[in-house]
Amino acid sequence: MGSFENKCVIVTGGAAGFGEAICRKFAGQGASVVVADLNLEGAQAVAGSLPSAIAIQVDVADEEANKAMAQAAVDAFGKIDVVCCNAGIPHRGNYMIKMEVDEFDRMWAVNVRSIFLAAKHCSPHMPPGSSIVNTASIGGKRPRPGLTPYNASKAAVNTLTRGMAVEMAPNIRVNAVCPVSAPTGFDMTALGVKDLPEDQNKAVIAGIPMGRRATPEDVANSVFFLASDDAEFLTGVCLDVDGGRSIQ
Ligand SMILES: NC(=O)c1ccc[n+]([C@@H]2O[C@H](COP(=O)([O-])OP(=O)(O)OC[C@H]3O[C@@H](n4cnc5c(N)ncnc54)[C@H](O)[C@@H]3O)[C@@H](O)[C@H]2O)c1
Repeated sequence: MGSFENKCVIVTGGAAGFGEAICRKFAGQGASVVVADLNLEGAQAVAGSLPSAIAIQVDVADEEANKAMAQAAVDAFGKIDVVCCNAGIPHRGNYMIKMEVDEFDRMWAVNVRSIFLAAKHCSPHMPPGSSIVNTASIGGKRPRPGLTPYNASKAAVNTLTRGMAVEMAPNIRVNAVCPVSAPTGFDMTALGVKDLPEDQNKAVIAGIPMGRRATPEDVANSVFFLASDDAEFLTGVCLDVDGGRSIQ
């Protein structure tokens, strides 16, 4: 028996990257998983490979889609025990004033509005003892130039997390993970490349005391811990999953 047997876990952005690893981690502990993603085909592929899961197409920035996501989870599994608000997007790395206004608005809606909408529409179905885990970023605490609006959106995720933790206590715990750079689809959106060029890769790693970028499993393990009973007294924690990057 896994520790998440008979528990329903929603994972947004569950079709790829961190989200896929989060889905697999919870499923490995017996959870029923709602794989929610804009990319329906990808969500179906992940859900189809898990013992108990459904896939649903969701744009996390859209209110109706959030309502439908909560309803689909309740219809399939009766309640919602964990919501992992993981879907998020960077923008193409550049100085802020070169960014288009539409790109700023869309990024902010996907990264920040989504947290509000998921909490608003999922929480009525969440029993006492349930939890929300948001995926922020270490850039929200230690921003570097080139992704300034993105970093600000992740600082907003951290602030939402801490405020929500108080508003939702004691029934629902709310925590966040703050990952450092990881080789996922994120690189393609932020930098336009599937793999970081060798020199950039070396420069990123040089800033991480543990000597490597994060993996999706590093993030999934931390999300899982925060949602587990081992963390039953933790709320409002924005956990650095950064190999020490933010210390220096
Ligand atoms: N990879 C990194 O370096 C890094 C570092 C820190 C934080 N993060 C954050 O981690 C989270 C996951 O990113 P990732 O690295 O796994 O990226 P990814 O591109 O590999 O995966 C993101 C997933 O989210 C989905 N998605 C995008 N927009 C969506 C929307 N509007 N509605 C629903 N689904 C949507 C995509 O289809 C994709 O499946 C994001 O919030 C990101 O900001 C990533």
